[in-house]
Amino acid sequence: MFSAVAEKKRIAVVPGDGIGKEVIAAALEVMKASGAPITFTHFDWSADRYLKDGTTIPADGFAKLERDFDAVFVGALGDPRVPSNIHAKEILLGMRFRMDLYANVRPVKLLDAALCPLKSVEPSDVDFTVIRENTEGLYCDVGGNFKQGTADEIAVQEDVNTRKGVERVMRYAFDYARKHGRKKVLMTDKSNVMTFAHGLWQRVFKLVAPEYPEIQASHMYVDTLCMQMVREPRQFEVIVTNNMFGDIITDLAAALQGGLGMAASGNIHPGKTSMFEPVHGSAPPLAGKDAANPIGAISTAAMMIAHLGLDSFAGKIEAAVLEAVRQKKITADVGGTLGTRRSAEWIAERAAGA
Ligand SMILES: NC(=O)c1ccc[n+]([C@@H]2O[C@H](COP(=O)([O-])OP(=O)(O)OC[C@H]3O[C@@H](n4cnc5c(N)ncnc54)[C@H](O)[C@@H]3O)[C@@H](O)[C@H]2O)c1
Repeated sequence: MFSAVAEKKRIAVVPGDGIGKEVIAAALEVMKASGAPITFTHFDWSADRYLKDGTTIPADGFAKLERDFDAVFVGALGDPRVPSNIHAKEILLGMRFRMDLYANVRPVKLLDAALCPLKSVEPSDVDFTVIRENTEGLYCDVGGNFKQGTADEIAVQEDVNTRKGVERVMRYAFDYARKHGRKKVLMTDKSNVMTFAHGLWQRVFKLVAPEYPEIQASHMYVDTLCMQMVREPRQFEVIVTNNMFGDIITDLAAALQGGLGMAASGNIHPGKTSMFEPVHGSAPPLAGKDAANPIGAISTAAMMIAHLGLDSFAGKIEAAVLEAVRQKKITADVGGTLGTRRSAEWIAERAAGA
């Protein structure tokens, strides 16, 4: 006998700290309402857990995520009671590095012209994706201080770029463009100054791009890119860049779509358990006030279930979010009057009915 019931996708949920807990609760409600065949298992890795027993992530934590789950859904990590932020670093950077989630994917889509700080911009003018290298660059913690605390101090922070790391994230960007019907991939760097590290990016881009002849490959220095993202964002479709520049330009990009509360992201290694998180942090001053915008987390949920092959359910959630924005069933940071919970309930009702 064949079972008509599709196997449910298993999602590990790490709400984390501050507003992370609130926006994850909101996104879980919407995913459940969409009817997507998924199960959730909660993990309490957070500042609370760290302060209670010193655990950031248990010894077998990463292996368990890879072995037992199809995806990981994270809220945000960061708490003023842990000034070193050690738990956030070990959990978030730990997942990115130890699970080798090398492509950080950040779709930048304007849902309503009123949300964009630029003049005379239509939603279709802001619709691109940034693919940020996620496991190398200036984030490898390689470096040191010499003669620390003296007037002669020297501080060195190494920018690590490997041929393998650069090539695979570029291929990911071109494959992403193909899969999503995009026609342009732009690589951004600072190769005029960082001649060794970004010279490698230049050479590899020139090798990889011809393998995708239907996609227009181009290059822009990152300073010019920042200017162009504000002057004429519609020229961009897919942007690929290193870890540090990706971190910076995606905050600028988030502002174009209405702020950090609207921005979604995935940390992906094709074929392996990947991790999805809203772009924003734990926003301690907002926590516990039912004021956090849940849309970044809800859009991240849609991205995650689409990644798991549940496109029709993701489509329902995206349509419900768009309708919420159009009807202003949203939080104050994006011009609405609802709290986190009520906005999420409204989106969940739509996603259930859509
Ligand atoms: N991925 C992550 O978990 C992540 C990312 C960034 C910062 N952090 C951590 O979060 C803590 C706070 O950092 P921060 O203040 O620099 O960044 P943040 O993203 O928490 O907040 C920045 C600004 O955006 C606003 N904001 C953020 N998310 C919002 C939402 N959903 N709705 C409405 N407004 C929102 C905040 O009120 C604040 O004004 C720190 O401990 C930091 O290390 C974590």
